[in-house]
Amino acid sequence: MSSQTGSHNDVSDDHLPAEQGSAQGEVKVADDPFADPGLPPHEDRIQDIDERAAKRSERVVALLFTVSMLATIGFIASYVTFPIDKIVYIFPFGHISILNFSLGLTLGIALFCIGAGAVHWSRTLMDSHEVVQERHPIEASDATKSAALAAFAKGAEDSGLGRRKLIRNTMFGALALVPLSGLVLLRDLGPLPEDKLRSTMWKKGLRLVNENTLEPLRPEDITVGSLTFAMPEGLDPEDHDFPKEIAKAALMLIRLEPNDIKDRQQLDWAHEGIVAYSRICTHVGCPVTLYEQQTHHVLCPCHQSTFDLTDGARVIFGPAGHPLPQLQISVSKDGFLEAQGDFAEPVGPSFWERG
Ligand code: FES
Repeated sequence: MSSQTGSHNDVSDDHLPAEQGSAQGEVKVADDPFADPGLPPHEDRIQDIDERAAKRSERVVALLFTVSMLATIGFIASYVTFPIDKIVYIFPFGHISILNFSLGLTLGIALFCIGAGAVHWSRTLMDSHEVVQERHPIEASDATKSAALAAFAKGAEDSGLGRRKLIRNTMFGALALVPLSGLVLLRDLGPLPEDKLRSTMWKKGLRLVNENTLEPLRPEDITVGSLTFAMPEGLDPEDHDFPKEIAKAALMLIRLEPNDIKDRQQLDWAHEGIVAYSRICTHVGCPVTLYEQQTHHVLCPCHQSTFDLTDGARVIFGPAGHPLPQLQISVSKDGFLEAQGDFAEPVGPSFWERG
């Protein structure tokens, strides 16, 4: 070993190209100091030379795809069999939901087996010859495209997709079944609302009660310039169904001068200038709560939709799509405000109507 005295870094000649370090201080750069060593010689796999080994690999791949299919069927069976609240002890997880455990396990096996089958197929049965591809301009020539198509066709041929029907069929089966797992879970979105959003609790003869005091309302309780919130009599805030029902039946009452009412039907459905409208905004369903006394406009605080209560609760500003539905009211023999039926149209956002 020699060294260059006086240099900060001693460099061994062994680590330089042959010509470097020659006499007279000249440094010659080798023509190709990092020559491409080339590909190592190709080695056949056992499956390339032994048809029985190839058959064994084929059966392993088919088995993996078959297990995937069975796992997907197990996933669906678990979903319909196990109740959501069934808790069991499973070592080492402890007490867990049998439904969640079985769904996770079967879906995991189904996906794993598809991946494992594909990897085993490519490692043992597909063509293993190394391929070198030189860099070329991004735009491929027609000849290159044709060569690529030919290479693709050859790859398809080499993969054995056409020849190995067992693998092909089980793979297609596994790939076709595994998306069913996702489809089954759509059931968790819940039942369709059917026509539940088209009707409310209101019906003929049902009294209006103050939402805060729960006392039945008389016409004299509704004063000019104030907004009164009401709900159907018999709706108990302690009931399990209360949130669901009040979300549709919530009402607001305002007393107007009959002469201020522009809409004829609105006047007919009112009692002595008292009008009753749904409180559920027709945009996306926030409760309408803000009242402008001077203009008789009500405002939704969520996105500022504004409704004119003197003109059929018409939308005069904001994103709401249609007026607030009106409830026809009258007074019972004993002097209480009561409904004359349900709202004539569905309350709330228009997308509820399409449920
Ligand atoms: S929910 Fe009322 S304006 Fe959007």
